[in-house]
Amino acid sequence: MSLIRDISADTNEGKEVSVRGWVYRIRSSGKLAFIVLRDSSGIIQMLSSTRSLTEEQHKELSALTVESSLEVTGILHKDNRAATGYEIEIKSFKIYQRNENFPISKDLGEEFLLDNRHLWLRSREFTAMMKIRSTIFKAFADFYYNNGYYQVQPPIMVSTATEGGSTLFKVPFFGEEVSLSQSSQFYLETFIFSLEKVFTISPSFRAEKSRTFRHLTEYWHAEAEVAWVENEGMMDIEEKMIEYIVQEVVKNHEEELKIIGRDIEVLKKIKAPFPRIRYSKLMEMAKDWGLDLKYGDDLGADEERAITAHFDKPVFVTHFPTELKTFYHMPDPENPKEILCHDLLAPEGYGEVIGGGERIWDLDLLESRMKEFNLPKDDYYWYLDLRKYGSIPHSGFGLGLDRLSMWIMHLDNIKEAIPYPRTVRRTRP
Ligand code: 4AD
Repeated sequence: MSLIRDISADTNEGKEVSVRGWVYRIRSSGKLAFIVLRDSSGIIQMLSSTRSLTEEQHKELSALTVESSLEVTGILHKDNRAATGYEIEIKSFKIYQRNENFPISKDLGEEFLLDNRHLWLRSREFTAMMKIRSTIFKAFADFYYNNGYYQVQPPIMVSTATEGGSTLFKVPFFGEEVSLSQSSQFYLETFIFSLEKVFTISPSFRAEKSRTFRHLTEYWHAEAEVAWVENEGMMDIEEKMIEYIVQEVVKNHEEELKIIGRDIEVLKKIKAPFPRIRYSKLMEMAKDWGLDLKYGDDLGADEERAITAHFDKPVFVTHFPTELKTFYHMPDPENPKEILCHDLLAPEGYGEVIGGGERIWDLDLLESRMKEFNLPKDDYYWYLDLRKYGSIPHSGFGLGLDRLSMWIMHLDNIKEAIPYPRTVRRTRP
């Protein structure tokens, strides 16, 4: 048994081949039936006729329906009329299951397709998207392994918030409550004192009520933390990582990008370095572009969409005002009203995919910032301990892999970028 991709070659002309999979399309005209078979590697046209099959066998094949499962042995022919240039003349076959009508067809509504994601994910488009997504996850890990990082596994059930209480999911826990992790950052920070360079790919949870094109309640979070690195050095690493991921997609997925209609030329241009713009400067630029933004305003999806439409590469926004970000960010020693942090905004209107920066590593400063945020010292005793024993400068970041996938594949909504989206209104299937 072979994969369709592997047998589809001129060198197999006239040879006997065996493949198995699912009916992608079928067209029968009595004497002839053209069955397009699909497997994980691609599609191929097959011909059923009484030239090489009995009347009975031909009838059985002609009556197959979309998504029926079967295996087939036959002779491979080059045929320019067939969709992929090859055709198998069927000599023998085994049907595993003949379906009733498959519920998914063209032009169905978004909610119906989401309710039936378990079936819709067999479509060619979705299969292409999942292959690209798989490469994005692999490339992230490869980049960090290639650069001497260790992968670590922080817990998901936690008792400390990293990104504020308003988006915490609470879960009953033996008569008490725990939260689902919003970010592995604090746990990654614990590892830098032994491993120095660490990363993780873990699910993160946000009780996001906002229904925007880029918010999930459960998303895949790729995070890294590095000893001895400052804000600028962190951005040097991240831009190389983003370039690596995008160029791995370009290298491995020309066919899949074509299937989903993504312009590969746009992706080929994603090469480091990326522009770095201070928040204060960006506000001036925004004014010139006619956007209604002033110093102190936070950047939401709409603002970022308007800003990134002006760039064809990702852009770092740095030095946000202190009050726009949470407590652990390091104030800029030259201007403590701003912090040494960065967001990376993806181009073409997509906006923030990374949030990161330098961490406060001085105990007194961290404690005073936590006081401003009313955070109980007891809950964070272990995070504070890191500033007591061999504290060092360090930085890190979190990258939303679903958001990155959405941009790389140029999708309209983050729900298309993840197989089973979880949002305020959706926990099925
Ligand atoms: O900017 P955020 O909240 O930063 C953190 O969680 C840091 N503690 C990460 C770190 O430094 N280790 O989230 C980081 C990224 C965002 O830039 C975005 O890409 C993604 O996580 N993200 C979401 N993706 C999908 N749905 C949501 N609701 C998301 N919230 C954040």
